[in-house]
Amino acid sequence: MAPPAASSPDWRALALEVDPPAIIYDASALEAAVEELHADLTVVPGAELAFAVKANRSPGVLRTLARAGVGADVASVPELRAAQAAGMRPIHATAPAFGAVDLKDLVAAGARPDLDGMTQLRTWSTAFPDDRQIGLRIRAPVPPVEREHDGGRRWSRFGVDVADPALHEALAELGLEVVQLHIHAGEMANPERVALIGEVLEAATQLFPGTMLLNVGGGLAALYGDDERVGSAWTALGASVARIGAQLGRAPRVVVEPGMLVAAMAGVLVTEVRAVETPRGAEAATVTVDASAWALMPWSVARVLDAVPERSEAPSLVDVAGSSCYERDWLVIGARCPLPRPGDRLVISAAGAYVTSMARNVHGVPLPDEWILDGGRLERATFT
Ligand SMILES: Cc1ncc(COP(=O)(O)O)c(C=O)c1O
Repeated sequence: MAPPAASSPDWRALALEVDPPAIIYDASALEAAVEELHADLTVVPGAELAFAVKANRSPGVLRTLARAGVGADVASVPELRAAQAAGMRPIHATAPAFGAVDLKDLVAAGARPDLDGMTQLRTWSTAFPDDRQIGLRIRAPVPPVEREHDGGRRWSRFGVDVADPALHEALAELGLEVVQLHIHAGEMANPERVALIGEVLEAATQLFPGTMLLNVGGGLAALYGDDERVGSAWTALGASVARIGAQLGRAPRVVVEPGMLVAAMAGVLVTEVRAVETPRGAEAATVTVDASAWALMPWSVARVLDAVPERSEAPSLVDVAGSSCYERDWLVIGARCPLPRPGDRLVISAAGAYVTSMARNVHGVPLPDEWILDGGRLERATFT
């Protein structure tokens, strides 16, 4: 995952400026993550970044990314509106449930959606009888290690099978030319997987010589768990893109769509401690806070970054529990910090991606307010 900004904000001071629970984003951490990715991607000719807005719709986050020259990947009209309001350009789009009205909104905003299946292909053809150039999302293979989570499925449920004769018959019948290819491969966890995506795109562009733009999706956080792998992964993709360019006779644009990688570590959750229990015989104390991991951050691997006030006792083993009545609602298991007391504030890491953008409304508790620290100032950044 991308490193935090060179100098970390004073979370302890900031935690006292907001009403918990609240999320605070750090604009400089977002900028640092973008800068690092841009530098890594110099080995992929024509590469540009589009932030996956599904990961975060906060206007503060999107405005910061727009300022850093990052485009948007949207999967709904509300995401489109958030990206437009933040001034993100260009806008890319793909989602399996787009209907004619969504497609029209996207096109009106200057996007060319990557159509997800045969149904969308036909919807497009009826909605835009005069626009014959389309983007296609192509089906990616599911790696063997991930198949067990996916009912044994060998192929992603998203996108079309480029080798399916029925696809080519439909394209010919409807008079459509494919000019964009989009592949999102789930977790691009290792260089081999990224190289495989390159190979799939090389094969696909032979079938679609009108291709001008390749979109390789996101799923990069796992790859960035090991710096050593990053260089060889991008070099392999760069080699595929160069071969595609040679074969097409022109260099395609290449869009990379990170969500988690850019934003996860750029946000913290400020919580208030509501209860401290030290169950008899248990190794760790249970510290319950006023926000729910289950509702807000089921995918995050979080840490306790700071506590306010700073207590001087020796560190204890602490499990930080969420506020819901769900048994497995844990924000952090096995933290080491001086035992907090009710009313203290805890700053929890990894709250920048897939938190408010996909939160559960458990017990009817409202979502935390969102703030962004930008240029030394704390500003409201809640998506409305
Ligand atoms: C099409 C597409 N692009 C990009 C992403 C972002 O992936 P991540 O947040 O893992 O980087 C997703 C995530 O589901 C996606 O579906």
